[in-house]
Amino acid sequence: MKKILFVCLGNICRSPLAEGVFLKIIQDKKLENKYGADSCGTAAYHVGERPDPRAIKTAKQYGITLDHLGRQIKKNDLDIFELILVMDHENLNNTLRLSTPANKHKIKLLRDYEPASFRDAEVPDPYYGGQSGFEEVFDIAYRCCENLITQLEKNTNSY
Ligand code: 4NP
Repeated sequence: MKKILFVCLGNICRSPLAEGVFLKIIQDKKLENKYGADSCGTAAYHVGERPDPRAIKTAKQYGITLDHLGRQIKKNDLDIFELILVMDHENLNNTLRLSTPANKHKIKLLRDYEPASFRDAEVPDPYYGGQSGFEEVFDIAYRCCENLITQLEKNTNSY
């Protein structure tokens, strides 16, 4: 099984939403036996907490239940997971700091998987904004996860 780890700062907004989206697409495509997903934050602010109510609400609108509990990234996550997808450059720098020469190549920006016409670097942090920011995160995560899964299915050895 290929396991994907989604990483943001607090692990209550962007990464649990991306994890939920990824798992929903996997379920819809009946690929549950081939792929798994988890999420975490680079910071410990929200360890043990449920996702932000605005993330839960956005996911629910698309039939997705977010049951993740916040956790902080650990050094050995980078060994255990096959692909580590971060939301922005701050997450990237903090995650790279935990990496080794052997696992560094697994760490990528989620938006590296945008279809070309949407290419942009970061998933914006919706924490200090309104509900619409969470909708935007959902849309980005959906496009990128769908494209990622298509790529994984085309060539199982290439991310
Ligand atoms: P996330 O959003 O990284 O997408 O989970 C945030 C959640 C909490 C905080 C910042 C961003 N915070 O400062 O507590």
